[in-house]
Amino acid sequence: MEVTLAIVKPDGVKRGLIGEILKRYENKGLRLKAAKVVTPSIELLEKHYEEHKGKPFFKPLIEYMSSGPVFAMVLEGENAVKLVRMINGATKVEDALPGTIRGDFASSTTYNVVHGSDSVESAKREIALWFPELIL
Ligand SMILES: Nc1ncnc2c1ncn2[C@@H]1O[C@H](COP(=O)(O)OP(=O)(O)O)[C@@H](O)[C@H]1O
Ligand SMILES: [Mg+2]
Repeated sequence: MEVTLAIVKPDGVKRGLIGEILKRYENKGLRLKAAKVVTPSIELLEKHYEEHKGKPFFKPLIEYMSSGPVFAMVLEGENAVKLVRMINGATKVEDALPGTIRGDFASSTTYNVVHGSDSVESAKREIALWFPELIL
């Protein structure tokens, strides 16, 4: 069965959106395999976002993501990677449609409430980073 990593980012946790967001994933049939509240280290975040190293938004992104607790979760289900990306909505704030988490809650491209792995390979890599103890 496919698994993916989803994260409620610090703005989402501060705004009390963990329950609302988890409900949307569960409503779609995804099952929670593991979860934790954690303030991620800079080291973890630089690895997590290594594809974006050198981009203008990299430093602000790492600062934002390390600014407080996040809710990291492993979700399982058929097409879990694609489903979470669809439920999350588009990266650019102006493209995120109403009905998606970002469309409903994000007001900026940087502070966009949620993360979802972008492929099965990314999911494997990210789950190993965030949940090294987890045996799937
Ligand atoms: N053009 C941008 N300006 C500011 N922040 C950005 C921009 N592009 C991406 N980000 C931030 O970096 C994160 C990672 O980017 P990316 O992997 O492209 O998006 P996604 O989270 O949808 O997979 C985004 O979720 C967002 O927080
Ligand atoms: Mg991405």
